[in-house]
Amino acid sequence: MNGTILPPLNPPLSKEPLLIDLEPAYGCNLRCRMCHVTYMKDRKPKFLDIDRVDWQFLQDKDVSLGSMFEPTLHPSFNKLIGYLNDQNARISFVTNAFNFSLERLDNLYNSKLDVVYFSFDGASPEKYEYIRQRSQYKRVISNIQNFIKQFKNSGTTFIVNFTVCQYNMEEIIPAIDLWESLGVDILGFIAMVSREKHQFFAENTLFPVRNEYEQALETAANYTIKNNLNIALSSAYYSKPEIKEKYADSFVAPGAISANKNLMKSETYSSHSRYGYGESPIAHKSCCSPFTIVRIDYDANVYICQHIKVGNLYEQSFCDIWNGEERESTISQLMDSSEQCNTCDYFRFCVDANHVDYEEISNFTAEKFVSTNGTIDVIAESYKGFNLLEMDGKFYAIPLGEGHFSLERIENKDYSVCFKANRQTDLDLPIEVYNFQRKVIGKLIQIYTVSSRKISSLLTKK
Ligand SMILES: C[S@@+](CC[C@H](N)C(=O)[O-])C[C@H]1O[C@@H](n2cnc3c(N)ncnc32)[C@H](O)[C@@H]1O
Ligand code: SF4
Ligand code: SF4
Repeated sequence: MNGTILPPLNPPLSKEPLLIDLEPAYGCNLRCRMCHVTYMKDRKPKFLDIDRVDWQFLQDKDVSLGSMFEPTLHPSFNKLIGYLNDQNARISFVTNAFNFSLERLDNLYNSKLDVVYFSFDGASPEKYEYIRQRSQYKRVISNIQNFIKQFKNSGTTFIVNFTVCQYNMEEIIPAIDLWESLGVDILGFIAMVSREKHQFFAENTLFPVRNEYEQALETAANYTIKNNLNIALSSAYYSKPEIKEKYADSFVAPGAISANKNLMKSETYSSHSRYGYGESPIAHKSCCSPFTIVRIDYDANVYICQHIKVGNLYEQSFCDIWNGEERESTISQLMDSSEQCNTCDYFRFCVDANHVDYEEISNFTAEKFVSTNGTIDVIAESYKGFNLLEMDGKFYAIPLGEGHFSLERIENKDYSVCFKANRQTDLDLPIEVYNFQRKVIGKLIQIYTVSSRKISSLLTKK
């Protein structure tokens, strides 16, 4: 496949799935600040009983391990790899690479190992360890380095996923240098999605700095091409029509730019788009994933559309589930109503990942927060010259044109004015007074307040 741009497959509505997403473990050894795992109430690990499953249905299939939790946490991960090898499955997996010793995972030597995704956010120990709580920079770099050395000539594609937020955005170029020097094939930039109502997301969502982010991605592409680097850079941004046109000669896969045209080894890179994006009888979206992709979790539950349960492998055979009533009735429901498809995070962030439009706030937030600004509810974008925002039950008013909102900026008194109140209606008075002062006095009494009640009494006194 050297140098070939891989088009979407437009897969046939096959009798069997083409891609199996397998989540052998629930839980993780790390607590990354942007990850749902860190905010889960129930953290007790759960593991798939791999000896209770008949794995024959994986014969010659593509299997992708661990998209939501840490797959190597499974105590019999190596044995599971052995079972997949028995079925001649083509394997890819995503890992934090913390417990990634090849002595522990020696069955990988006999695998059809297609793609390994290492997640590493940033390039410096300081930024990396701040985001990836409980991880160790040196140890993980050394694990990745050893792994690449061992598998360099095996045809495996090595990808580093860099989840970008405001905190680590400045390390995009240093990350290119780091991973180029270690022989990584692709460095993928993923814009952080705000998944929780937590300060970290409010302060670090890329939405308010989306122009800078896009600029940084273009600088990165130019840097890679100008320096004739071997590594490819991927991002949904690079799939924008104007970028595609601008860098037309440098694409090595959809959304991936490189100076090295002979880079792509893998056919299944970006496999959810490749297998899930396409014509479908479910006409609400270009999504054929219920016919091509299936997910299996740590309790042996089987899902289509990533989260709709259609059976359990401890109780039924895979064949019975795939051809069973549950799946059939789910597909009919999807055909009858567009509701699920219209609010589907899995489609937006995985199947359609190459078409993310960064001008859309919804592409920075999980569905449950759509119509919010990261984790901040935007009550009014322009209200008497102010933005009104809600966060953690408090209401804020900040003059328009003062840049992005963050609690850190409030604490640093970084805005000319910021009103804070317990009720939205309490913001009215200070806003009125502020506007009156500007209009009548032409100059503001210096105010910086955290309470609208305090401000009104302050102004009355003056
Ligand atoms: C949830 S992890 C599971 C696999 C493994 N534990 C790891 O870290 O690679 C899968 C990927 O999701 C990314 N991720 C986590 N939180 C995210 C967020 N809020 N927005 C976008 N990607 C996120 C991680 O950086 C990682 O690359
Ligand atoms: S290592 Fe992966 S699963 Fe674990 S907390 Fe970090 S992103 Fe989440
Ligand atoms: S719900 Fe999502 S995954 Fe399922 S068919 Fe609709 S868009 Fe595709």
